[in-house]
Amino acid sequence: MGRAKITVVGAGNVGATCAHWAAARELGDVVLVDIIEGMPQGKALDLMQARPIFGFNVEVVGTNDYEASRGSQIVIITAGIARKPGMSREDLINTNKNIVAGVTREVAARSPRAVLIIVSNPLDAMSYVALKVSGFPKKRVMGMAGILDTARFRCFIAMELKVAVEEIQSMVLGGHGDEMVPLVSYTNISGVPLRARLSKKRVEALVERTRKGGGEIVSLLKTGSAFYAPAAAAVQMAEAIIKDQKRLVPVSAYLEGEYGLKDIFFGVPVILGAGGIEKILEVKLTPEEQVMLERSAAAVARTRDALGM
Ligand code: APR
Repeated sequence: MGRAKITVVGAGNVGATCAHWAAARELGDVVLVDIIEGMPQGKALDLMQARPIFGFNVEVVGTNDYEASRGSQIVIITAGIARKPGMSREDLINTNKNIVAGVTREVAARSPRAVLIIVSNPLDAMSYVALKVSGFPKKRVMGMAGILDTARFRCFIAMELKVAVEEIQSMVLGGHGDEMVPLVSYTNISGVPLRARLSKKRVEALVERTRKGGGEIVSLLKTGSAFYAPAAAAVQMAEAIIKDQKRLVPVSAYLEGEYGLKDIFFGVPVILGAGGIEKILEVKLTPEEQVMLERSAAAVARTRDALGM
């Protein structure tokens, strides 16, 4: 078997960073696609020239033509517009719906066995578009959000407690919006419950910062939205699938009754392996978390309905 092929559509901030990390980790050959002429070609060539220095032996191709993506195992879709200060993820819906639908048609026709990882926002709605347009089985279409939101929560906890980030275990579920649901009851520092180390008030402050984590970066950058951590999260999902790691991580998955929700993409814990989403786990929530989850689901359902699909 040859190397895996990973196509990244959208060679902007998130897409180029995905290509960078996927190549540096030697996950497979990378095809970077964008509509802007020359830009993906330039970034790909630049990455190719970094290989002798860091010593990674994969090919990176930049193109405006989907033919090079043929036979991809993974397609990461980052095409679309990003938020500017004052915008919510939902404000992107009309532009990104058409872009994601068009991109999905192109990649699905050439890589009918691929797993699609959606990054374009509003995330849960764009994943819905990709599922409907591709006609792929639900286990091969997913959105990247939960790993990112969880990483933000883990990062803030580690900064507060001055402890290594790897020791912090947590899970953020729900929609990729300000109503997301950090599961405090499952959050621990190498097994020590978070609540035993931090006051309720501090925990609440970190939860709030996590919910607005994307917005905090948008207001600092002013010209776009976060990309290092989002790309890292998308690449971790690709790695779990390519290496059949069976990782238990939160991703936006199509639900058909799980958590009492139907016909909606929503952040839930899953097992990620070679088949894509191999299993959706239903974990027990506290009554408080259950209320938050329902509120988040209502917000995601409104955005899905706004798609008119
Ligand atoms: N086909 C391919 N590429 C496209 C298309 C299309 N139809 N339409 C736009 N693009 C490309 C743009 O040319 C641009 O290079 O998508 C890229 C988007 O890059 P950025 O503007 O840098 O945005 P980025 O920060 O990467 O965010 C991309 O991910 O996190 C989400 O909310 C974010 O929806 C946004 C997406």
